[in-house]
Amino acid sequence: MKIITVLGARPQFIKAAPVSRVLRENHTELIVHTGQHYDANMSDIFFEELNIPKPDYHLAVGSGNHGKQTGEMLQKIEEIVLKEEPDYLMVYGDTNSTLAGALVAAKLHVPVIHIEAGLRSFNKKMPEEVNRIMTDHVSEYLFCPTDTAIHNLENENITHNVFNIGDVMYDAVLYNRELAEEKSEILAANELEKKGFHLITIHRAENTDDLQNMKNILEAFSKVETVKVWPMHPRTKHKLASYGLDLDAVPNLKVIDPVGYLDMLTLVSNAQKIITDSGGVQKEAYFMQVPCVTIREQTEWVETLEEDANILVGTSVEKILDAINKNVNPSYKAVFGDGKASEKIVQIIEKR
Ligand code: UD1
Ligand code: UDP
Repeated sequence: MKIITVLGARPQFIKAAPVSRVLRENHTELIVHTGQHYDANMSDIFFEELNIPKPDYHLAVGSGNHGKQTGEMLQKIEEIVLKEEPDYLMVYGDTNSTLAGALVAAKLHVPVIHIEAGLRSFNKKMPEEVNRIMTDHVSEYLFCPTDTAIHNLENENITHNVFNIGDVMYDAVLYNRELAEEKSEILAANELEKKGFHLITIHRAENTDDLQNMKNILEAFSKVETVKVWPMHPRTKHKLASYGLDLDAVPNLKVIDPVGYLDMLTLVSNAQKIITDSGGVQKEAYFMQVPCVTIREQTEWVETLEEDANILVGTSVEKILDAINKNVNPSYKAVFGDGKASEKIVQIIEKR
């Protein structure tokens, strides 16, 4: 088989690493990097740390409004698909790079494989929700991480070639967890004590692009004395600067640049609590059994909400603080597969 994989944003590099490893044992994969993320610590570092083969095509699309960014990707990916004539085109998750890859392939009658299919927040104001719905509806193979995702697709009458194979991010965590423990020096570098700090990540547009939401979030953080480490996404950094909001009122805060995956796994596993709006980080908190507070109104990862393992708080200062201060003791029962999602994906495609 010849498969084109379209990638572009940080979480996609992490999801693709385990699948690509298995795929390349017996098949040809060409990687197209759209260039949606381009800073070294948002892109190159993941290729290096996770041994992802160098992209065969780099489109250097960069940042921009949705139309411009996605449109440029569509044009460039189309040229490559016409030239390479792949058997399948594979996309991950819900970014603009996902939608662009899926749309091009569907129009050229190349079957689309969507990994992390079927997730829904039921909030179409999120760009990710639009991207997911569109991608799922033009995909030929839909690989879901949970039964909830399967049911979401059933509700939209998508039942053909839908498989729950578990979560490829769980594969990635199992594969890299020990390596992270061996290699990462992030705790010492930032004088962090195991279980003595909270880990923060915030980057979703519904938070960063709303001044009041960011004010609330910072107000809540200003009332938390525990040490907090915040690897800051460039979107958030730019937005805070444009709002003129500074972080001086937040005590014991260490803002650092985005970190590589091994450092991130180390931060996640050693945090006391995780405060995030990231999809991937919510799950990693769950996999590593670290209580999570999610600064969003909805989550696609509803399984993580059981027994308050993850608490959804939106942007109310009070709710954020209550959740951070709440003692929780969940049993972490939810299932995200057996760490072999990547093998299952490749086997299923091979059989067909
Ligand atoms: C994108 C995805 C989001 C995902 C996130 C993962 C869409 C619509 N959103 O959001 O679902 O959760 O990636 O991290 O696809 N920037 C840099 N350097 C970079 C990348 C971005 O400075 O390497 C800055 C630019 O100012 C850019 C902004 O971040 O305008 C936003 O980047 P963009 O890729 O448009 O969206 P993300 O917020 O990263
Ligand atoms: N991540 C990372 N370094 C960071 C922040 C996040 O390696 O500084 C990883 C994180 O562990 C997870 C993925 O990036 O695997 C999540 O991506 P992100 O939060 O950017 O996007 P989302 O999952 O919300 O789409």
